[in-house]
Amino acid sequence: MKKTSYPKKEIKIVLFEGIHPKAVDMFKEEGYVHIETYAKALEGAELIAAVKGAHIIGLRSRTFITDDVLKHADKLMAIGCFCIGTNQVDLAAANKLAIPVFNAPYSNTRSVAELVIAEAIMLMRLIPLKSAICHQGGWSKSAEGSWEVRGKTLGIVGYGHIGSQVGVLAESMGMLVKFYDVEPKLSLGNAKYIASLDELLAQSDMVTLHVPELASTNNLMSCERLQKMKQGAVLINASRGSVVDIDALAQLLISKHLNGAAIDVFPVEPTSNNEEFISPLRGLDNVILTPHVGGSTIEAQENIGLEVAAKLIRYSDNGSTLSAVNFPEVSLPLHPNAHRVLHIHENIPGILSSINELISARTLNIVSQFLQTSGTVGYVVVDVEGDVQEALALHQDMRKIKGTLKSRILY
Ligand code: NAI
Repeated sequence: MKKTSYPKKEIKIVLFEGIHPKAVDMFKEEGYVHIETYAKALEGAELIAAVKGAHIIGLRSRTFITDDVLKHADKLMAIGCFCIGTNQVDLAAANKLAIPVFNAPYSNTRSVAELVIAEAIMLMRLIPLKSAICHQGGWSKSAEGSWEVRGKTLGIVGYGHIGSQVGVLAESMGMLVKFYDVEPKLSLGNAKYIASLDELLAQSDMVTLHVPELASTNNLMSCERLQKMKQGAVLINASRGSVVDIDALAQLLISKHLNGAAIDVFPVEPTSNNEEFISPLRGLDNVILTPHVGGSTIEAQENIGLEVAAKLIRYSDNGSTLSAVNFPEVSLPLHPNAHRVLHIHENIPGILSSINELISARTLNIVSQFLQTSGTVGYVVVDVEGDVQEALALHQDMRKIKGTLKSRILY
């Protein structure tokens, strides 16, 4: 195992908000022993005290890492958001301080895809309506308006991680899968690309939305678009609330242009479980409403724990920053016979040449060199062969380069 300028036993990891125990196990298996865990989010003076001296922190959505908190995090090397979103961290401030932030954007893909398939079946069978009638003491035993999904067309809008997985599951159940995406995508199985969204809507018995929240997807399913859906079709939205005109959807469900909907995400969502959920869709026939739980499963929580812990360990052990959300992304190979110096600096001209001058002044051979810049920082990784004392001295020299923010050596 390589030594580092931060020996593992000295690296302090602080995990907030009851992060999955599998993440803690993974850190331990990789030799990290100094791990502090908190069941809940901290704030104010307590949070500041907890981040002081921490090299790595892990959090979910309720720990707010502001510029001010970061100023007190005197040793902080990396932040792991054990969730999808990263809004709770001041990413620009972390970037300026040379702190990469990692998250787990795709660990719950399967969970969302499974829910969508289940909802498609439920909606096509009018189950939400029939279930509500039974709950009220009624009995609606009839096949009218109930369809199998086999042989029906599922239109997927946004054929990314979730959309394409929904397509694979849907095909295995005999649905005809068509999709629309703004990017060229290789279709899986027999899924058919449709070049126009309006055309896809006109052909689909079930439409499911899997686009990101962007200015270009805001109100993508406007009233006009919703009207382009087939008479009697159903809509599923487990993407983002801003994508659908929810008032127009309610009207089209009331007028029976659409036969049902399953909505997991809303333009305005309660901020806690104690707040009332207000929506024009409440009480409508054949509508499944869920509280933004598309990706919320035990498996997804575990996957998130493992994914983010692995990224933090990889950065700490090897310097790789692949998929960091605020930082130059560098994917690094193993470096069994070389010493690796990691140098993070202000993104100003001339740093690489200063580094190379320092290397040529020593009896060291460059094995490989990586440079990536993003925002206000640049990240250079140099693997050098030669005497370990020379490599350590090089590291000390590199720390003195004007504009240096942070540096480490793995030797
Ligand atoms: P992704 O980034 O892998 O895929 C998104 C796809 O949408 C890409 O292929 C992209 O090219 C396409 N796209 C972008 N703009 C488009 C447009 N105007 N029309 C058609 N296609 C467009 O994202 P992923 O992981 O599949 O997530 C999809 C959505 O699901 C995101 O909004 C994400 O926030 C949401 N999500 C919701 C969860 C929940 O709990 N309900 C859990 C996880 C993700």
